[in-house]
Amino acid sequence: MVKDVILTGLRANAEFHLGNYLGGILPMVQLQKRHAGEYQLNMFIPDLHSFTTPIDHGALYEQTHQNLKVFVAAELDIDQPDTFIYRQSYIPAHSELTWILDCFTGFGEMSRMTEFKDKAKQIGEDRISVGLFNYPVLMAADILIYGAKYVPVGEDQRQHVEFARDIAMRINNKFGDIFVLPADNNEQLKFAGREKPVRIRSLRNPERKMSKSVEDPAGTIMLSDKPQDGAKKIMAATTDNLEKKVLNPNFESRPGIANLLQILKLLKPDDEHRVSDLTYEEFKVIVAETVSEFLKDLQIKLAAIDDKQLMQKLEADEEAMRKVADATLLRVQKAVGLRPA
Ligand code: TRP
Repeated sequence: MVKDVILTGLRANAEFHLGNYLGGILPMVQLQKRHAGEYQLNMFIPDLHSFTTPIDHGALYEQTHQNLKVFVAAELDIDQPDTFIYRQSYIPAHSELTWILDCFTGFGEMSRMTEFKDKAKQIGEDRISVGLFNYPVLMAADILIYGAKYVPVGEDQRQHVEFARDIAMRINNKFGDIFVLPADNNEQLKFAGREKPVRIRSLRNPERKMSKSVEDPAGTIMLSDKPQDGAKKIMAATTDNLEKKVLNPNFESRPGIANLLQILKLLKPDDEHRVSDLTYEEFKVIVAETVSEFLKDLQIKLAAIDDKQLMQKLEADEEAMRKVADATLLRVQKAVGLRPA
């Protein structure tokens, strides 16, 4: 029986922060634990996506590897035969499929993508690249080329996953059964086991998500932060003066406290911390300790990774995925008339 594919990509252009870890990496590791053997799991680094906005290219290659190591330190079991890790640019079929999909994608449809519009506003219309505009099509290729059904992503990426489903339907309607359809939005959320994707907020501006692309060092905990510095950032996190105790905060009225509570629960899911009766200060101490322990532990695990072994697994997986991707590409090439049917 062919297994359903769960797939996600995690950026390479910057070091990971706590938001990437809790929102992107940890959910995949948990999925793997929960469903060992039931699904195929593809977790890859979309290195081609990483310079849709300007980056330091001298750091990209190394950063890609650093980020892959975080998967392992997060206890992704890369020895499972159904789990694949790879770098997007090592599988050229992603790019080739993108071009073909581009020609079935509307200019208007891409112009309406929320993430594009936001970034275009930040960066300025005439300084944005065509790559940024085209980003969702490459992402659709990433998904469709392996027939992925479930694509766990953050809230800001939902629209792109829906686009992947739309373009797959469009191609299937025109050319017959070419692509496996990714699940629709509701089913994706149900699969991920929550109504809303995890969205870790900035510690300084809890209305916004934690992000490396905006200059917000005090609001962002990097996985390489010294444990004590991570703790300090938690202690200095913006809260509110609406309540004295933690109680049962929600993101609308008390985003700062709700964010810290979310971080605590994700880092210590089984912990029976009764925090609702704590004062903000007492509560922050607990979150700070938890974050600092987490950083210390992760950094020890990172340092212990055997690079050679990781590289071997990576290259073997890339070879395996190239075969799958090439087969999908050929199906599409035949359908559109680039290869004899
Ligand atoms: N665009 C995603 C992000 O910024 C990363 C990504 C690229 C991705 N290709 C993907 C995620 C395919 C899921 C599936 O987070």
